[in-house]
Amino acid sequence: MDNKKIVIANWKMKLSLAETSDLAKEMKNKFKGFGGEAAICPNSVSLVGVGKILKGGPVKLGAQNVFWEDKGAYTGEISPSMLVEAGCEYVIVGHSERRKYLLENYSMIHKELKAVLNIEGLTPIVCIGEDTVERKTDRRDFVLVNQLQEALGGINLMGDQQVIIAYEPIWAIGSGTAIEPTEAEYAHKIIKIALNDMFGMRVVKNNFRVIYGGSISSKNVKEFSGLEGVDGLLVGGASLDAEEFYKIAKAILK
Ligand code: 13P
Repeated sequence: MDNKKIVIANWKMKLSLAETSDLAKEMKNKFKGFGGEAAICPNSVSLVGVGKILKGGPVKLGAQNVFWEDKGAYTGEISPSMLVEAGCEYVIVGHSERRKYLLENYSMIHKELKAVLNIEGLTPIVCIGEDTVERKTDRRDFVLVNQLQEALGGINLMGDQQVIIAYEPIWAIGSGTAIEPTEAEYAHKIIKIALNDMFGMRVVKNNFRVIYGGSISSKNVKEFSGLEGVDGLLVGGASLDAEEFYKIAKAILK
C-alpha cells in the first residue's frame, strides 16, 4: 500500500441517536462516487443501526472505543469481536478525551491495540499527541516517541495488517485553531522516524498511516493536503455536517 489517504469522522458524544442515523444516511448519499477511503465513528449505541445504514456504501463504520478482552465480566465494555459483528472496520484507541476523563493510559491502550490486532478485519486508530504544557516546555518530540513506544512496543504485525496513528495535539482539539502545517509536517516526520526505528521502513510504508486531527475544517484543509507524511485526517466538529466533511474529504485526497 502506498499510503492511501483516509478521512475519519469522530462524532464523539455530540449527536442524539436520531441525529446520528439521519447524518449517517446523508453521508452515505453524499459520498457516492467519492473514490477515497472514508469512515465515520458514531456513539456505541448507534453502531449496529449505522452499520446497517452504511452497508454496501462508500463510507465505512468505526467505533470510538474498545476493551482489551474479548468476553467476560467487564461491565459496560465492548469487545473487538462485537465491533466486527456490528460492522466496524475501524476503531479509535486511546483518544485524548478518554485519557483525560476516564484516565485511560498507554498501558491500557497497548492492551486494547493488541486485542484489536488479534481480530481480523478491524483497523486500530491509535491516538497520540502532546498537551499544552508539554508543548510549551518543548517536550513534544519526547512525548510522541514515548507514547508510540508504550502503545506499540513489542507488537508484531502480521502480513498487511494496518495500523493508523492519529497525531492529535490536545491543545488543538476543539480549539478552532489547527496546528501550523509546517509543524504538523515536522511532527509527522518524528512519528515516522520513531516507527521506522521500531518496525523498519518497509513495515511502516506498507502497514502504517499517520493522520492528523485537531480543528480541521473545509477552510484550513487545503494547507494540509499536500503535506509530506500526512496520510489523512481525523475530524471532530467539522464532521457533523455532511457537506463540510465531504469538502474536507475531497480536499485531502488531492
Ligand atoms: P476537532 O476536529 O473538533 O478539533 O476534534 C478533533 C478530534 O478530537 C478528533 O478525534
